[in-house]
Amino acid sequence: MKTMNTGISEKNRKLLADGLSTLLADTYTLYLKTHNFHWNVTGPHFKSLHLTFEEQYNELALAVDLVAERIRALGFPAPGSYAQFAKLTSIKEETKVLTWEKMVAQLVDGHETVIRTARGLLDIADAAKDEVTLSLLSDRLNIHEKTAWMLRSLLN
Ligand SMILES: [Fe+2]
Repeated sequence: MKTMNTGISEKNRKLLADGLSTLLADTYTLYLKTHNFHWNVTGPHFKSLHLTFEEQYNELALAVDLVAERIRALGFPAPGSYAQFAKLTSIKEETKVLTWEKMVAQLVDGHETVIRTARGLLDIADAAKDEVTLSLLSDRLNIHEKTAWMLRSLLN
């Protein structure tokens, strides 16, 4: 296979790809949970939560593609199975039907988990002068922090 020389060492590309794989697993798991809650939410705020969750899972579904393709551009395979995602993510799946308040609280926790994963990668991307990954992380942090704020506001 043709070797890569983009000015980022192989060691740093691997570190970045590993970190982005965790970000991908977190984001995909949060995507599925948000879609699950879109289907199963009940209560007096049904309509607004059903639609809010739809907007959020659509955004997450687009985001996983950007993260996976950044891993590929760094020269590594992107994980793409539930088994790999379950190993990589620290977000727990939900198999029970929760109250809307518990759903919203779990989504806040999920977004905060993604935020910590993305933030943990900033130093590595910065040290590698990987402006593209830094920009992707910055975009993801912005969206997840905003979404976490909006969800948190439903509970306060
Ligand atoms: Fe739907």
